[in-house]
Amino acid sequence: MIFRQLFDPTSCTYSYLLASRRGGEALIIDPVLARHTTYLQLIAELDLRLVMAVDTHIHADHITALGKLREVTDCVTVMGERSPADCVSRNVSEDELLDVDGVKLRALFTPGHTDESFSFVMADRVFTGDVLLIRGTGRTDFQNGDPYASYDSIFNKLLRLPDDTAVYPAHDYKGWTASSIREEREHNPRLQVASPAAYADIMNSLNLPDPKMMDVAVPANRNCGLLELPPHDSR
Ligand SMILES: [Fe+2]
Repeated sequence: MIFRQLFDPTSCTYSYLLASRRGGEALIIDPVLARHTTYLQLIAELDLRLVMAVDTHIHADHITALGKLREVTDCVTVMGERSPADCVSRNVSEDELLDVDGVKLRALFTPGHTDESFSFVMADRVFTGDVLLIRGTGRTDFQNGDPYASYDSIFNKLLRLPDDTAVYPAHDYKGWTASSIREEREHNPRLQVASPAAYADIMNSLNLPDPKMMDVAVPANRNCGLLELPPHDSR
């Protein structure tokens, strides 16, 4: 299998390119608009064909490449069923399977960081978006985030995956690249809590500034990162 973890240093976003190799079909998770030419170059160099682009949630810190990649490659764009981005071609619900040439991802509804966040589970790894980060968790103070939903998604869904499941988040700010469910259960400082209320206390006292790009990124990402709305066809 081809698996590439791609990094956008401006927003500290990880994107993931996956392909089984058989027919050369590829999918990408959480692509960043500013990096789209790099992805397309890599995809061409690996002799792959992009057929699917997935966002785990509406990002607030960068503009998604979903719309641009669809424009260029005609790939299917995917988000969870509660996403406000009406532009995506496919909305997945809990337990729905995405299958690209034998690369199978199961959709897992994991709200908390936002109210529409999904994680995507493979046999040996999980793409957690921003709900579970490495030694951290995604903030819950905007985009209808909810620390109690985050607790429930993490403790009652993600941490119930097999211990040795690799964890690949959508961001990292400290240089971590991957983790495992066991590692996060044992060593993630925010998860060493006795109750949902204790977790909510931590999340409610983070006092983080808003992401710099939030006012631009959120509206753009509701339109798949295409800043200008397509011309209205009134025929
Ligand atoms: Fe996020």
